[in-house]
Amino acid sequence: MGKKNIILVGFMGTGKSTVGWRLAQRLHMDFIDMDKEIERITGLTVSDFFRRHGEVRFRSEERVLAAKLAQKENMVIATGGGVVLQQENIQALGSSGIIIRLEASPEEILNRVNRKKGTRPLLNRTMNAEDISAILDKREPLYACARYRVYTSGKDVEEVVNEIMDILKQEDR
Ligand code: S3P
Repeated sequence: MGKKNIILVGFMGTGKSTVGWRLAQRLHMDFIDMDKEIERITGLTVSDFFRRHGEVRFRSEERVLAAKLAQKENMVIATGGGVVLQQENIQALGSSGIIIRLEASPEEILNRVNRKKGTRPLLNRTMNAEDISAILDKREPLYACARYRVYTSGKDVEEVVNEIMDILKQEDR
């Protein structure tokens, strides 16, 4: 039997893509970044997609992809921050493996998203730590679907990956 998937959820800028890629390397698992995959499928960057087709269409692409990935195994999946907005995504992905939530402080999130300006359509107008904090509070109950949470502020990628590896060892026992 193949291995279960590892699904990383969390707000924008919490490190899902960077950590997920490195985790997959360490575990010799396949890695997929949902935003990147949607960009590949649609031929548009996430920002351009939002601009052209709007959020509702983006969520629909996300839903179709989540359902598809839930059929696969042995994958580390970095989700987009809004994947939790649709309960069916969580149900589908959750049934395919273990959901781990990455977290960071609003200040750290702001720093990280500022380094990649223009790539987060939902944060174009809301660019201070308080605004981010407000969206985080709203989404908090949704991210609570994760079985484990890992705090990434002030840590480097290897530290975060090591923490996840420890969680996975516990799970195996
Ligand atoms: C979103 C997060 C983004 C991307 C889109 C919407 C969200 O992914 O899917 O901009 O609603 O939180 P990242 O979490 O990878 O930035």
